[in-house]
Amino acid sequence: MSKSILITGGAGFIGSHVVRLFVTKYPQYTIVNLDALTYAGNLENLRDVEKAPNYRFEKVNILDADAIEQVFEKHGITDVIHLAAESHVDRSIHSPLDFVYTNIIGTVNLLNTAKNRWKGNYGHHRFHHVSTDEVFGSLGAEGFFTETTPYAPNSPYSASKAGSDHFVRAYGETYGLGYVLTNCSNNYGPNHFPEKLIPLFINNIIERKPLPVYGDGKYTRDWLFVIDHATAIDTVFHNGKNHDSYNVGGFNEWQNIDLVKLLCSIMDKKLNRAEGESAQLITYVKDRPGHDLRYAIDASKINMELGWSPSVTFEQGLEITIDWFLNNSEWLANVTSGNYQQYYQKQYAQ
Ligand code: NAD
Ligand code: TYD
Repeated sequence: MSKSILITGGAGFIGSHVVRLFVTKYPQYTIVNLDALTYAGNLENLRDVEKAPNYRFEKVNILDADAIEQVFEKHGITDVIHLAAESHVDRSIHSPLDFVYTNIIGTVNLLNTAKNRWKGNYGHHRFHHVSTDEVFGSLGAEGFFTETTPYAPNSPYSASKAGSDHFVRAYGETYGLGYVLTNCSNNYGPNHFPEKLIPLFINNIIERKPLPVYGDGKYTRDWLFVIDHATAIDTVFHNGKNHDSYNVGGFNEWQNIDLVKLLCSIMDKKLNRAEGESAQLITYVKDRPGHDLRYAIDASKINMELGWSPSVTFEQGLEITIDWFLNNSEWLANVTSGNYQQYYQKQYAQ
């Protein structure tokens, strides 16, 4: 069946990879990228697909319910893949309300339109909500998040994502809206905005700036290459069970400090610097409040039920990522000018 899929947040980091995958893999679908182009949205991310005959762009804020209605009407939207969000934990600590507005109210606006327009025919339409493993809170040294782990969000970001997940589920239970939900671990890859650990540190290593490691650096994250997240979304969108959720992860846990040292060592080679030179930039700084100790995903459900698994090792993914940043210095210069500098001063002032 021909679909007209609304992908929200398609100009952002993960969204741009999802848009690219769907535009190129499914020429029979119309892909409508809806994005407000906040500081994190960048149409440069999609230059290679913007002329594709099945691609459309709508600059719309998901807080604007009327504009969402108009986009559904204009493009005959049959399905939604919802990624638009405020996505950075540190920003959520400075400005929690921005996260409530976009992540909760924006999601409910989309759900309302989907509910009203697809009424009577919910079995033929799907709302795929893209969420995070951070809704589960923090793990100790042992164990993994599964799909049945209780929600226990600790940051304003994860609380707002948890709220949005609950609304998606509630629209399924209350109105029968068809939905699937994915909760993914930390992504990395090309086009990652340099406020998150990996791209921030790549940029700082290039510029020989301090590498601000929060606390003792012993915090642990499970890293997944962004293109593997896009294929997981493709898999669950098409084959996931209705009204169900799937955890997505890389089976790839790293303590921050070990990851940073690995990054430094690869970058030394790439930049023809002496081994150990970039590691000298490591600077321990004050910890993030409410910092979650460890995230680790048990991705066996999506693997066993749907056959998805990551396609690259961490070493391969990091190599691709670092090469991309080194080859795209103009992209990096553009996104780190202007407001980025103000954010940086505020976040890293001691
Ligand atoms: P991002 O910050 O790079 O991109 C977010 C996009 O949403 C941007 O293009 C931005 O312009 C757009 N947007 C923000 N507010 C909007 C609004 N009010 N209306 C319309 N568009 C708006 O985020 P990302 O890292 O690509 O994350 C995408 C999604 O995946 C988010 O929902 C996030 O919670 C989830 N997620 C991210 C990760 C990760 O590691 N980055 C992991 C798991 C899940
Ligand atoms: P981040 O990329 O912000 O993702 P998240 O908080 O969603 O997991 O951070 C990843 C880890 O790196 C997290 O433990 C916080 C830490 N971190 C630093 O030590 N220094 C930094 O400058 C940043 C941005 C993150």
